[in-house]
Amino acid sequence: MSILPNLGNGKITVPDLMQRKSLAAANPENKKITCLTAYDYPTARLMDEAGVDVVLVGDSMAMVALGYESTLPLTLEEALHHTKAVRRGVQRALVVADMPYGSYHGELNESLRNAMRFVKEAGAEAVKVEGGERRLELIARLTEAEIPVMGHIGLTPQSVNAIGGYRVQGKTPGTAEQLLRDARSVEAAGAFAVVLEAIPRELAAEITRILRIPTIGIGAGPDCDGQVLVLHDMLGLTFQDAPKFARRYANIGEIIGNAVREYCADVQNGSFPTDAESYHAPGSVKNRKTIPIAR
Ligand code: KIV
Repeated sequence: MSILPNLGNGKITVPDLMQRKSLAAANPENKKITCLTAYDYPTARLMDEAGVDVVLVGDSMAMVALGYESTLPLTLEEALHHTKAVRRGVQRALVVADMPYGSYHGELNESLRNAMRFVKEAGAEAVKVEGGERRLELIARLTEAEIPVMGHIGLTPQSVNAIGGYRVQGKTPGTAEQLLRDARSVEAAGAFAVVLEAIPRELAAEITRILRIPTIGIGAGPDCDGQVLVLHDMLGLTFQDAPKFARRYANIGEIIGNAVREYCADVQNGSFPTDAESYHAPGSVKNRKTIPIAR
């Protein structure tokens, strides 16, 4: 369970993140917000202990952890299950849960009930929803119910069928204008931060300049108030080519493959386990001719 948010004890809160933006205006040296995805206890715990600010239980789990072809099939129950595991691993960072496709696209009251489940049952401190202007009412409703909301605009993977693929957004004057409207709407509705995914650097810089809430970029250049990456991309734990913005910090996939090959060889050639890796019977039992087998 997370430590209680108490002034000065290091727990990251929604107001802290918002304050970072206002402090950054006065001091450009102010630290950027760091965010990574996690879907389970060990990775959440490791990244919390390493000092990340925001742990996002992204619906990217559908593709990178559960093997679905897109984020669309992820169910509410699956997302809740993984959020609970992450929650148990995080003490300091802010835990944000992505609402899966279909859990906030229908009736407002039902969307509110679903969002509340992330807070009440899974321990999330905020939820993330994709979409700009068209989520105005929803974001306002969740915010009014004391659920902090992170917006997500630009390339929104839950819209893959509507936008016809995973493409950089906002490259024409018309679509850039729409993204500026989306960003303003998300802020006006009460979101505390907004993810900008796969948009031109110049547009992300403009949105970051005009918004009072922090922008968290992924494929949106270095001028955002913070950055987010999918952990599996940065650790080399995915099976398809990662997008160009997903810098690889380690190749854990290769490490796992090598470790498994070594283990299999050791078992087959008899070098695992050794005597030192075995338990031994006590003397009285050792001296008997046969060891009775418990039935
Ligand atoms: O689901 C996810 O991982 C995300 C990030 C890419 C922002 O939404």
